[in-house]
Amino acid sequence: MQSIGRTRTQSRPSRSVNLGGMDYPDPKRKGNFVGKVALAAIMTTVCILVLKKSSFNYATPFSMREEGVTHVLVTGGAGYIGSHATLRLLKDGYRVTIVDNLSRGNIGAVKILQELFPEPGRLQFIYADLGDAKAVNKIFAENAFDAVMHFAAVAYVGESTMYPLNTCATYGEPEKMPITEETTQVPINPYGKAKKMAEDMILDFSKTSDMAVMILRYFNVIGSDPEGRLGESPPPELREHGRISGACFDAARGIMPGLKVKGTDYKTHDGTCIRDYIDVTDLVDAHVKALEKAVPGKVGIYNVGTGKGRSVKEFVEACKKATGVDIKVDYLPRRPGDYAEVFSDPSKIRNELNWTARYTDLQQSLKVAWRWQKAHRDGYGTPSVMAS
Ligand SMILES: NC(=O)c1ccc[n+]([C@@H]2O[C@H](COP(=O)([O-])OP(=O)(O)OC[C@H]3O[C@@H](n4cnc5c(N)ncnc54)[C@H](O)[C@@H]3O)[C@@H](O)[C@H]2O)c1
Repeated sequence: MQSIGRTRTQSRPSRSVNLGGMDYPDPKRKGNFVGKVALAAIMTTVCILVLKKSSFNYATPFSMREEGVTHVLVTGGAGYIGSHATLRLLKDGYRVTIVDNLSRGNIGAVKILQELFPEPGRLQFIYADLGDAKAVNKIFAENAFDAVMHFAAVAYVGESTMYPLNTCATYGEPEKMPITEETTQVPINPYGKAKKMAEDMILDFSKTSDMAVMILRYFNVIGSDPEGRLGESPPPELREHGRISGACFDAARGIMPGLKVKGTDYKTHDGTCIRDYIDVTDLVDAHVKALEKAVPGKVGIYNVGTGKGRSVKEFVEACKKATGVDIKVDYLPRRPGDYAEVFSDPSKIRNELNWTARYTDLQQSLKVAWRWQKAHRDGYGTPSVMAS
């Protein structure tokens, strides 16, 4: 096992071979098979696995092993959270390989990351589908990863149920709030069930492995890079399944006529549902802390939340202030399947990983995200890879 616990704060020196460009696996080339990792089937909240040592027949900056944890595979790194996590990892001095099939993510986000970190050996992008076992084996054969941050997923609850905004994944509708890591997991939608299955697989796998495993459970992610380099840009066709912040921004931009808030008679202070929102900057910080504190042979499970729920009405008001647009809101009857209040108890992650949400502020997080949305009306633009 690799020793872990090292974070870099300085930029890494340049290397002689530039592999910073796009890398598309060539199925004809054969590579060595390295430690097999059950990545393809994993669709859970993010997990971090510290991988086994292996040897390679040929060397690239990404096939060479360095002391400590230095090379992180970020699956889904072209997506919203994955791209932000990659930015943070690169800033902290890690080497990153992104694997993404661009089904939802944006090659534009990867390009921005490559422009920010052009030094050879810092970032490589591999266009591949994690469901393609051959491609995944080849990736592991040709690269020496120390850890995996797994974000790749078909990540819209609404798509799985046709009930957008209905998150909470594996916990379902708990009887008691706040949700702790011990709260019984009874997922109520296919999205949550898939997450739970993936967690179960990881936990089963960990029983016979000395990998370090960290499972992070989070709820509603908002915000974007405070320096405005990255944002959230799902494919337009997923708009109707989108998340609440996307829906607010679309309404503010006039793409949608307004917002529909379903349910005003819940037993909450203003009658609308309460959810736990977390800024993506805080979220990736939790991942990096989890990576630093991961222990070989041990499993850590953590809720990543603020411990404080905010109502949909509060969210809408914050969105109106952040965008400066008086968004039209229709208050409608409840829809089936939504539950009144969901928020997490973050004490475990605070006590064990020394993590706490420092950037999450509903209005400010939305303001930062809105700034990016306004400056990027077409998101990251047409992905050239997909267009060809
Ligand atoms: N955004 C949220 O509010 C939120 C909340 C809780 C949990 N999560 C979880 O966080 C993770 C990341 O979410 P996100 O919001 O960044 O989603 P996203 O859709 O922006 O990113 C997912 C990325 O995975 C890629 N991908 C999907 N299937 C793939 C496959 N088979 N092979 C390779 N790449 C593939 C997509 O192209 C995309 O770039 C997901 O597991 C999601 O369920 C997100």
